Amino acid sequence: MPYEFLTVEVADRIATVTINRPDKLNALNARVLEELDVVFTAFATDPLVAAVIVTGAGRAFVAGADIAEIAGHDAAGLEQMSAKGQAIFNRIERLTKPVIAAVNGFALGGGCELALACHIRVASEHAKFGLPEVKLGLMPGYGGTQRLPRLVGKGRALRLILSGEQIDATEAYRIGLVDVLATAKTLHEEAKSLALQFAKNGPVAVARTIEAVNDGFDRLADDALALEARLFGSLGSTKDMAEGTAAFLAKRPAQFTGE
Ligand code: COA
Repeated sequence: MPYEFLTVEVADRIATVTINRPDKLNALNARVLEELDVVFTAFATDPLVAAVIVTGAGRAFVAGADIAEIAGHDAAGLEQMSAKGQAIFNRIERLTKPVIAAVNGFALGGGCELALACHIRVASEHAKFGLPEVKLGLMPGYGGTQRLPRLVGKGRALRLILSGEQIDATEAYRIGLVDVLATAKTLHEEAKSLALQFAKNGPVAVARTIEAVNDGFDRLADDALALEARLFGSLGSTKDMAEGTAAFLAKRPAQFTGE
């Protein structure tokens, strides 16, 4: 599919997806969402992609869902829109390859929720985070009311969501919404260096780890630990595990094949 609003580049097994609708601060209209769905579906089975970086063109990461589109929806339309956006962000979160948000500017509303659906967030000094939906008589609908409290705690999440205020990268880092602070100059370097670090490791182990963290997170501890044991055990039949342990014992670098 030719992308209207995404630029996708793959180098060194790292895919960089740039949301490219700068005149509207990369607001997520139905077309952008559909393109994200298509590209992340393709990444799942693309052997040339080991990790993904998501970023925005211009001065925004993503300034939210497209308010012009929202304005035209009735109750049923809004619910459908929310369910669709959630499904696409779930696809991003459940990709069994690391996904890093390189937040270069405004990450508001759906943009903040997109960053939350990514596994790791790196932010430049220009990044601004917020869930301003209540200011529009709305609420977060792409997972923000669920992912934000799970990441930063209920009180901090409610403070942000109920005020609709924007916070800068330093404050976002302080509350655990941002994992790595960078500058506009180093943002892509930092994101790429993390992606390369992840991509060096056994691909099956990386995939099962993401599955364990995602699927175990909301389970009761015993059930989640049983899931971890099952996934841990499943690595015993992989060539990567045989190679990784043999390489360690032979004091040489491992050559993983993802099998
Ligand atoms: N949906 C649709 N269009 C958006 C948008 C959004 N979420 N965010 C920004 N835009 C558009 C603006 O309408 C404007 O378009 P125009 O030039 O055709 O008028 C363009 O992007 C630039 O935005 P502008 O508001 O002029 O830039 P600014 O620097 O003055 O303000 C923001 C930047 C991010 C503070 C402001 O755009 C904003 O508050 N955006 C909405 C954020 C939001 O509420 N997101 C949640 C949506 S549910």
